[in-house]
Amino acid sequence: MTLQQNLFAPQAFAGKVVLVAGASGGINLGIAQHFARAGAKVTILSRNPDRIAAAARSIADAGHAVLGRSADVRDFDAIDAVFKETVETFGPVDIVVSGAAGNFHAAAANLSPNGFKTVIDIDLIGTFNVLRASFAHLNKPGASLISITAPGGTHPSLFQVHANAAKAGINMLTKCLAMEWGPAGVRVNAISPGPIAGTEGMARLAASPEREQWLKSRLALRDYGTVRDVADTALFLASDNAKYITGAIIDCDGGSGLGDASGDALQQPPPR
Ligand code: NAP
Ligand code: COA
Repeated sequence: MTLQQNLFAPQAFAGKVVLVAGASGGINLGIAQHFARAGAKVTILSRNPDRIAAAARSIADAGHAVLGRSADVRDFDAIDAVFKETVETFGPVDIVVSGAAGNFHAAAANLSPNGFKTVIDIDLIGTFNVLRASFAHLNKPGASLISITAPGGTHPSLFQVHANAAKAGINMLTKCLAMEWGPAGVRVNAISPGPIAGTEGMARLAASPEREQWLKSRLALRDYGTVRDVADTALFLASDNAKYITGAIIDCDGGSGLGDASGDALQQPPPR
């Protein structure tokens, strides 16, 4: 059987239409740029108009087709309008990546109800809005939807009650939509990145070099990942090479989700 979208072919995504939400920088912009380099036409959206315009320029300047729009994932109608404009401009959407998120360190006892709600609204309800809005605009069968979650969606951690609860919700949302939309030929998966170098997320959660070293010493692979590692995972999941994968949470995390691999508790580090 020939694959329509073989990941290993040059320009593997030529003619495909991709929409990435939360793509003004970091991991999600890296994913959008990677799809563009592989031949796709991409729409990127996020809240801040200046940042999304600069992100769109980075893709256009590299010679790729791009639409950049400012929209808040908490506003379903605004997201739906970006999908409509994408279909009018590029055609029906083949691939959607939903990665808009907000996060900060906060002890639960000091977190206001509105602080908790804000992160749930952006991450969980925002992901529902993006994926729900996408359904009417997808190229079916064959479309691939990817949400961006985190190890904290499965494993509890301190000072992350808001983000971890939101990401746990995204994991279940992903699996439920995979069941409901599979019969229409729509695959729905999630990527769970570990700590990724040079991102806003890690600037917020590991602000000092000491904290960064401490985190790396506990990871099985002993290093942060790169934006490219996550982008490669997204291209794989969206390709026909992954055409029998749906409802999966794919870890791209250096072993972060496995737990503490330092050996400190045993006073015996693993062999090098
Ligand atoms: P980032 O650069 O801050 O990306 C977050 C994006 O979400 C930005 O483009 C931001 O746009 C957008 N956004 C925030 N609120 C929005 C809203 N209400 N409506 C629309 N867009 C909104 O962060 P990142 O570190 O690369 O993280 C990207 C994704 O990976 C997130 O889902 C995060 O949870 C996940 N993740 C990251 C790591 C890591 O190591 N960094 C690890 C695990 C999971 P504006 O510019 O408009 O604010
Ligand atoms: N600690 C505790 N509470 C915080 C906080 C922090 N560091 N930052 C914001 N909050 C609370 C605010 O106090 C407010 O609650 P209140 O009304 O009870 O005071 C609530 O969160 C909303 O804050 P606001 O600044 O109005 O929200 P926003 O919608 O403008 O911004 C954030 C959303 C707070 C998530 C902001 O950090 C953001 O835009 N982040 C996007 C980038 C990002 O986080 N990237 C990393 C992704 S992993």
